[in-house]
Amino acid sequence: MNDRTAAPIALFDSGAGGIGVLREVQKLLPREQLVYFGDSRNAPYGERSAQEVKELVLFHGERLLKNAKALVLACNTATAVAAATLRQRYPGVPIIGMEPALRPAVHSLKNPKVLVLATAATLSQEKYRLLQKKYEKNATVWSIPAPGLVRLVEAGHGDSPQTDAYLRTLLADLPTPPDAVVLGCTHFPFAANALHRVLGDIPLWDGAAGAAAQLKRVLEQKGLSASTGAVGSTVLNASDPRSLPLFLRLLHP
Ligand code: DGL
Repeated sequence: MNDRTAAPIALFDSGAGGIGVLREVQKLLPREQLVYFGDSRNAPYGERSAQEVKELVLFHGERLLKNAKALVLACNTATAVAAATLRQRYPGVPIIGMEPALRPAVHSLKNPKVLVLATAATLSQEKYRLLQKKYEKNATVWSIPAPGLVRLVEAGHGDSPQTDAYLRTLLADLPTPPDAVVLGCTHFPFAANALHRVLGDIPLWDGAAGAAAQLKRVLEQKGLSASTGAVGSTVLNASDPRSLPLFLRLLHP
């Protein structure tokens, strides 16, 4: 019988954002073979139609699942538009997705004002609207698309004066400063320093560690974890190989 425990885990994002998730998975699952793919040639996904994103995610997801025992959609946009379809097509295969971390952000403070930054594609999904509605009972929630932030991170400028300036303009119309920010796009943790410079020392919530923990749980439940003697490895791939130096820099800051 084919030993699936030794097969790799694939992680997928539109580009560099999922590297933050990869870092958490490396920490938590050091014995696993990890294969990362960033579709940087087609990024940003968030500015594409839901149909286009879905086609790209299904194409790459199916390709990656030919060899992988599990798939991490390390991209909120890909999860929002295509996770359900992929799970239908691959029942029984662990497919882990990302969701904006509104729950911990809202529950950690009393009636907070929470800013959710994500892609337009994520925010326009029915799934997100329902999530926002659920937490609006206990919080003021402002949801703002930040496409420029994806581009700045993809260009390697997530922590730069340009990013500070972009955020200042983007957030100029907020009625008051938020108490917390939900990073609903995996690119945005790479702009954490800029967000703190612009918004002060407030909590930033992202789902990378939660996704890694969920992956570990599901692999254990299904008996798919790498055996105890295994030595882990990581392979980085990109549809535009010019992105690989950036991926490496973000992986080993
Ligand atoms: N990193 C992705 C996300 O989490 C998408 C960014 C993009 O390509 O627009 O939503």
